[in-house]
Amino acid sequence: MKPLIIALALVLAAPLPASAHPRPPRDLRALAQQHGIKIGSAVDIAALRAEPDYRKVLNREFSHVTAENAMKWESVEPERGVFTWADADALVESARRNRQQVRGHTLVWHNQLPAWLTTGVEDGSIDAAELRSILRDHITTQVRRYKGKIRAWDVVNEVVEEDGTLRQSLWLTHLGPGYIADAFRWAHRADPHAKLFINDYNLEWNAPKIETTLSLVKDLQAQGVPIHGAGFQGHLGIQYDYPGDWANVMRRFADLGLEIAITELDVRMELPVTPEKLATQATYYSRALTDCLSVRACRELTVWGFTDRHSWVPGWFEGQGSACLFDENLAPKPAYQALLAVKSPR
Ligand code: XIL
Repeated sequence: MKPLIIALALVLAAPLPASAHPRPPRDLRALAQQHGIKIGSAVDIAALRAEPDYRKVLNREFSHVTAENAMKWESVEPERGVFTWADADALVESARRNRQQVRGHTLVWHNQLPAWLTTGVEDGSIDAAELRSILRDHITTQVRRYKGKIRAWDVVNEVVEEDGTLRQSLWLTHLGPGYIADAFRWAHRADPHAKLFINDYNLEWNAPKIETTLSLVKDLQAQGVPIHGAGFQGHLGIQYDYPGDWANVMRRFADLGLEIAITELDVRMELPVTPEKLATQATYYSRALTDCLSVRACRELTVWGFTDRHSWVPGWFEGQGSACLFDENLAPKPAYQALLAVKSPR
């Protein structure tokens, strides 16, 4: 070989400086680490137990987990005084073994309540005073059980309506609006280190909901109530515009001193799936990550299930599906690649 060719070959073979040629992260764990945030998924406990391939992808990709259903009231206390912690315990134990942090979901909600509670309230056999002590005991028992093992709790879920009024749930109608402050205080007493969140859907864009939630937070803070974070569920669909003001909304909550999390991201579509729809979906996922990264207080992005094999979407939204990052066979979709390609806007 001529010297010139040898020299040229050496120059071409020499590694570029890291900054000029950053290697794309190899998976979501590496991506999360690169950006200094947590990337999580909701977990279906039955799948976690029964499906080795599900387990493998979950634990390879995610550094944060949320129980999709296992910590809800109907799951942990299906009959009054009969506690069934096995699934919730299994999630927390799996997280420990796989170095994942945990989001507790959820302490106060109007859905997935046990029948003994809802019927007791309806037929009057549980009066307001008793209901309040039932709620206090529920929060105290559950938070204490996982003390030190849950990074963040969704203390109240979906307490504001689309029109900006407080949701007329059994909690509001029987206990009055003070139940929200009480819930945060009881949770804080049970685990003073856990970050306590208010969590909601459509908070990405719905103005009345945003304004009411902001004033609710300010009001709680003025009373000295321990509230540390705002969770945006992020259930999106490509048939709707991407919520383009989301980062600004996050910033308004961050300006109150709150941590921000995207807690239940998924991006559904009308079936059938096409390559064009998957490409659009990919932009929604990467924009959500970019929005989170553009707000310093946004520390976590959790998806509501990572595989279409176990997604809540087809069961809840007729004719829709394919909302997750991986397909039924756990093959990564364009949205997965799009996340890996996101550069830090900070
Ligand atoms: C959903 C679960 O994914 C389903 O399996 C269950 O049947 C109903 O609840 N907002 C929330 C989540 O806060 O708890 C919901 O999870 C989805 C909407």
